[in-house]
Amino acid sequence: MRIVLVQGDVTAEAVDAVVNAANSSLLGGGGVDGAIHRNGGPEILAACRKLRASHYGKGLPTGRAVATTAGRLPARHVIHTVGPVWSRDEDRSELLASCYRESLRVADELGARTVAFPAVSTGIYGWPMADGARIAVGTVRAARTEVEEVRFVLFDETAYRAFAEAV
Ligand code: AR6
Repeated sequence: MRIVLVQGDVTAEAVDAVVNAANSSLLGGGGVDGAIHRNGGPEILAACRKLRASHYGKGLPTGRAVATTAGRLPARHVIHTVGPVWSRDEDRSELLASCYRESLRVADELGARTVAFPAVSTGIYGWPMADGARIAVGTVRAARTEVEEVRFVLFDETAYRAFAEAV
């Protein structure tokens, strides 16, 4: 698998699937989630509401992933995953790793070959960037998947450097 690092906006990537750093409600928020719904249009939220009603009455659990249409985004699909909130007292690394693994599993189900990820949990959820980057790169590299290219799309130079270091 090819790993590509990009500095920029993950919603602009013309890939088979773009990953959203969502929350359990699947009903939107700030950061990447806000940008995905803003740029992708109302079709994504409508699909999320349907998923809530059909499969996830209590919300999508942390560490899991689920796909919807990408609406007006250049990507074909959005894969929504729920990262863990960073905790000083509890090691939640396995849940963060699960976000990447589960997203790639869903990508395989969709037949996606190119997938763009943001640095899940490293914004509003407070995960330290260097550690988030290490988990992201390590997990993706170790994953068994048909995905041929993973693009980590990092918002700023600090995040880009952390991922470059991890690679
Ligand atoms: N493209 C790429 N990276 C981005 C973008 C973008 N458009 N926007 C932000 N980032 P966050 P989380 C970076 O907060 O920490 C939402 O409210 C950002 O700098 O989007 O998993 C959800 O609904 C950071 O490095 O996601 C949840 O409630 C990384 O992407 C909660 O935030 C992730 O930041 C999830 O928090």
